Amino acid sequence: MMRRSIADNSYYPPGRYPEGWYLVEIARKLPAGGILEKEWMGQQIVAWRDDAGRVCVCEAYCPHLGGHLGPKGGGCVINGRLVCPFHGFEYDAAGRCVATPNTPPPKTARLNVYEARELNGLILAWWSPAGRGPQWELPEWPEKEWHRLDYGSLHFRGHPQETTENSVDFNHLQYVHGYLAVERAGEVQVDGARLRSQFNFRRKLYLFGAPILTRVAAAVHVWGLGYSFVEFHERASGLKLRQWILSTPVNDTHVRLVAALQIKRREPGQKWLAAVLLACLPASWLSRFFVSRVMHDVRQDVAIWENKRYQPLPILNRYDAGIATYRKYCEQFYPHSTLTR
Ligand code: FES
Ligand SMILES: [Fe+2]
Repeated sequence: MMRRSIADNSYYPPGRYPEGWYLVEIARKLPAGGILEKEWMGQQIVAWRDDAGRVCVCEAYCPHLGGHLGPKGGGCVINGRLVCPFHGFEYDAAGRCVATPNTPPPKTARLNVYEARELNGLILAWWSPAGRGPQWELPEWPEKEWHRLDYGSLHFRGHPQETTENSVDFNHLQYVHGYLAVERAGEVQVDGARLRSQFNFRRKLYLFGAPILTRVAAAVHVWGLGYSFVEFHERASGLKLRQWILSTPVNDTHVRLVAALQIKRREPGQKWLAAVLLACLPASWLSRFFVSRVMHDVRQDVAIWENKRYQPLPILNRYDAGIATYRKYCEQFYPHSTLTR
C-alpha cells in the first residue's frame, strides 16, 4: 500500500486557505512610500503605502504583461504611486492605473487588490476562496492606555484551523505547556464569525531567577481562523496584557504565526505589584520578556502541530466540548465545502 505523505491534503482540514482576515505585516514595517513582497495564501503579493499613508495589498503581478511589482522584480513606490519595472505603468492605492510613460492609462488596467485594514498596528487583508467580499469586520481595540506592540513570529508546517483550535483545547494547556489549575470559565460561545472562550490558570514564571506563581484569567476572542485576540489579567499583581495570535497560510503546507503583545500602562487604583513592576522595569523590557514566554509556548505547540495530522472525526472526552463547538464554528470558513467536522 502506498504511504501517504503528511503533507497530503487529506491530512488537513478541507481547505488550505479558509475564508477570513489574515495578517499581511506589522504596520510599522511599512512606512509611507514603503513596499514589501510576500508569499501569502499561496499567492505572491505586494503591500505598499502611498505618501498619504494609505495601504494597498495586491497581487504581485502587473495586469499589463505580468511584471513583478515587488522589490525583487524592481517595483518601487515613486511619488506615492506603485511603478511597474517592466513598462512603467503607475498605480494608485486603489489599484487604478493612473499613468504610463507614453499613452493614456488603460481604463481596464487595475491591480488585483485585496481588501485591507490597518488596525492596532497590524495590516490585515481579506481572503475568500469563493471570491466573496468581507463577510465581517474586525474590531479596533482602544490604544491609548497600552504600551507599544511587540511581537515574535515562527514559520512552520501547519494550518490555521489547527493552530486556532488551541484556544478551546484546555486539556493541552496543562499537558503541553505545564499550566496549573486550568479551569474553563463558562462555555465556548459562537456568534457568527466570532467565537469566545474564557479560562483561568496558574503558571510559574521566573523573573530574574525568582519563581513567581501567576494567577491568570484569559478571555479569547476569535474572528475567523487567522485572527485571535486574548486578554490576560494576572490577578496577583494586577498586570494586564493583551495578545494577538495571527496565523497566516504562506503556501500549501506552511503558516506564519505572529504573536503580538501589549502591556497596559499604569492606571489609578492598580495593585501595588503591577505598579512597582511598571515603575521599575521599562515596558519594552517587560514586553520582550512576555513575548519570549509566549514564543516558548508556541514552540511547544509547533512540535505537536508539525507532526500531527488533522483528525476529521476526533474522539472527544467530556472536557473537549469546546472542540466540538469549534469544529462546527469552522465550517463557515469553507464556503465551498461541507466536509469539515
Ligand atoms: S508589465 Fe507592468 S507595465 Fe508592462
Ligand atoms: Fe498551545
